[in-house]
Amino acid sequence: MFKATSVFALASLASIVNAQSSPISVWAQCGGIGWAGSTTCVSGLQSMYPSASTTGSASATSSPAPTSSPPVSSVANFWFSFGDSYTQTAFSPAGNPPQVGQPLGNPPYPGGTTTVGPNWIDFDTAMFNNSLILTWNYAYGGATIDASLAPPFTPTVLSLTDQVNEFLSGTANKPVVAPWTSNNALFSIWIGINDLSWSWWQTGDRLAYNDVLLDADFALVDELVSPCRRRNFLFINVPPIQRSPYFLGLDPSETNETAPILQSVIEDFNTKLAARASNLSSTLTGVKTFLWDSYTAFNQILDDPSAFGS
Ligand SMILES: *[C@@H]1O[C@H](CO)[C@@H](O)[C@H](O)[C@H]1NC(C)=O
Ligand SMILES: *[C@@H]1O[C@H](CO)[C@@H](O)[C@H](O)[C@H]1NC(C)=O
Ligand SMILES: *[C@@H]1O[C@H](CO)[C@@H](O)[C@H](O)[C@H]1NC(C)=O
Repeated sequence: MFKATSVFALASLASIVNAQSSPISVWAQCGGIGWAGSTTCVSGLQSMYPSASTTGSASATSSPAPTSSPPVSSVANFWFSFGDSYTQTAFSPAGNPPQVGQPLGNPPYPGGTTTVGPNWIDFDTAMFNNSLILTWNYAYGGATIDASLAPPFTPTVLSLTDQVNEFLSGTANKPVVAPWTSNNALFSIWIGINDLSWSWWQTGDRLAYNDVLLDADFALVDELVSPCRRRNFLFINVPPIQRSPYFLGLDPSETNETAPILQSVIEDFNTKLAARASNLSSTLTGVKTFLWDSYTAFNQILDDPSAFGS
């Protein structure tokens, strides 16, 4: 029912910086749809978004509340998605819910994405789908797993912890608009990009810190699993952000040294993520896990962009 075959826009490869500037701020969303903060970009980073004033798009927070129950097909499948700017569509759980004809709810398709056009979750929900999928996409640009472990660029960013709490206090309770069951629901988590971009240049044992990050990640997964223990999980690993155009554009006298460090931190995180995902399904009866290896997929694209139409 779910296919994760979309080709990601290379423009969405997030950037990374050296330890001397302010690494968090260059990851920041700086302007555009749904963005009420400063529109001043850190030097070296262009706004990833068109300005809201030029697009005229409604921001997620101004979406009107539903006036009556929207049409929900009895054959719908449900997707609850958590992540960062690679996944965000600027969905607001308080606005119009996903429904037949608007499978991602608000804002109107494709929502507020980093690519400006449809992103992977848009494509997989509405184009590569083999069934009707209604997607609650809690992903939030700039998100880390938990702000106390890896601080986001600004305190208003909803971390994975915040996103899971939004789900638990809302759609988890199966409102009329979301009559999901353990069997027809998928939970996806694509997180770690911002955590590692903040983490790798810090002092201390970074590989040990990956365990700390993943402990927090999987504590949240445990909350999603309980109490029924019958859930489908899709995990997506961290792509090779040390190969992003932004990183490659930095001073080679630094990145020649730092790229392999970042790469080793990412690869360690991904290896541990895969082990934990596999452990989850082998130790908990009824839990199925899927892993989409974005690390390998992005490398294939970056190795031969022209084969992918670039
Ligand atoms: C895929 O999603 C679109 C948008 O919700 C829907 O119109 C279409 O019927 C779905 N495709 C299938 C095969 O169910
Ligand atoms: C960085 O690495 C590339 C490729 O190995 C090499 O051509 C270049 O001279 C190096 N630059 C610096 C400043 O070390
Ligand atoms: C495997 O999963 C079980 C049950 O969730 C947990 O207690 C254990 O610590 C996990 N082991 C590893 C290596 O992650």
